[in-house]
Amino acid sequence: MKLVVYLYLSMIVLGVQRGQAQSGHQVKLSANTNKDFISLDNDECENPEKANENSPTPAKVSSDIWLQTNQAWPSVKRSFELYPSPAMPHNVHTVAECMHVASEAGDYIFKKLAPLPGLNREAALLELEAVAAAGAGQGLGLESGLGVGVEEQPEVCGLYVIGEPDTIVEITMKHYDANCETGALMAFVDGWELNGEYFPGIKDHHRPLEERVYEFCNNYKQWPRISNKKFFRSSQNAALLQYRIPGRGSFVANVRFHKITQPCNVLVQDTAAVYKMTNFGQARNCTISALFPAVVSLASLRIGGKGVRTQPKVNYDCQTFGDRLEIGGSSGLDANGLELASAVCGAGNEPGPEQAIFCGVSTVRLVSTGRYQNQAALILRKADEQDLDIATLMCAL
Ligand SMILES: *[C@@H]1O[C@H](CO)[C@@H](O)[C@H](O)[C@H]1NC(C)=O
Repeated sequence: MKLVVYLYLSMIVLGVQRGQAQSGHQVKLSANTNKDFISLDNDECENPEKANENSPTPAKVSSDIWLQTNQAWPSVKRSFELYPSPAMPHNVHTVAECMHVASEAGDYIFKKLAPLPGLNREAALLELEAVAAAGAGQGLGLESGLGVGVEEQPEVCGLYVIGEPDTIVEITMKHYDANCETGALMAFVDGWELNGEYFPGIKDHHRPLEERVYEFCNNYKQWPRISNKKFFRSSQNAALLQYRIPGRGSFVANVRFHKITQPCNVLVQDTAAVYKMTNFGQARNCTISALFPAVVSLASLRIGGKGVRTQPKVNYDCQTFGDRLEIGGSSGLDANGLELASAVCGAGNEPGPEQAIFCGVSTVRLVSTGRYQNQAALILRKADEQDLDIATLMCAL
């Protein structure tokens, strides 16, 4: 399953990057496309927060990690257990890829080490100062912490979290060491972001974008030090922890999922499943998006007022109606760029015909004015070559 997600994520990134005439980049979230995320000029990275007297200071934890760079994982892990979380089974994952998709609860550990082999505390501090000085002088021309030369544009990476359709994501930053002074920055995103496009789409979310992206880093100049713990919740089953760490740095993010009763926007992770959509009588638009070409068919439908519901057949041509189910696709994450294959309204309990959407992102969107109780059940599965016959939409890739 994960492999499929990776594959299609790559497709989307490639597709969108080609559109933006980017060259020389690998299949990775690239920093220069994330203008919303980067704010180098901003000294005040750290938002004020209540200090937690019981938690060790960030500096203490950080140096523990640095001093243990030559040791094996178990000892490093022990230093993180300064923050026990008894309610959770201790499920530990290492974040290795720049674009890491996570669908399991547990601790996600990222660590970027210093290049020096015989590291001691003095060397660590000296180097930190050197990096800070370089960072202050030249902005992005930082020496890479991995010893591979100069990193011109530090990469923006992400922990892409996805849960079951009826869940929201909770991320607790148990620890982070992302020094603002070196240009390091982290952000929690309520949704997923790829190449400047968001899921759920900017217009479809009840929160404005500024409230959906929360940036933070460690301001080690500030005294007294403020708490190094942070706590975030998403509004849907998808959330993202972005990070850009030019020198060395680390974080431990604990991921949990919570069930909700009225899911609206859903990012699909299964390659075949039945999904129910409803507006619960509200004026809202809900989107189900799959990051792969998909075959969609309707299992049952009840959308719109009496006029359309009492028609003998489900209407697949409802673009002009206020309440409708849009089926389509796009090359990027935002459903506002949706190319429409069909717009459906009416009522029926018989399975509808299958249609294949050959796009990087396949989307079904329930548009509701709030005047009716709309509901739809649909079957969504991954499309393959044999489904070309039933294609109703091909996006340019
Ligand atoms: C839902 O989408 C429609 C058309 O895309 C738009 O006109 C309407 O304002 C949206 N409603 C809400 C509540 O965002």
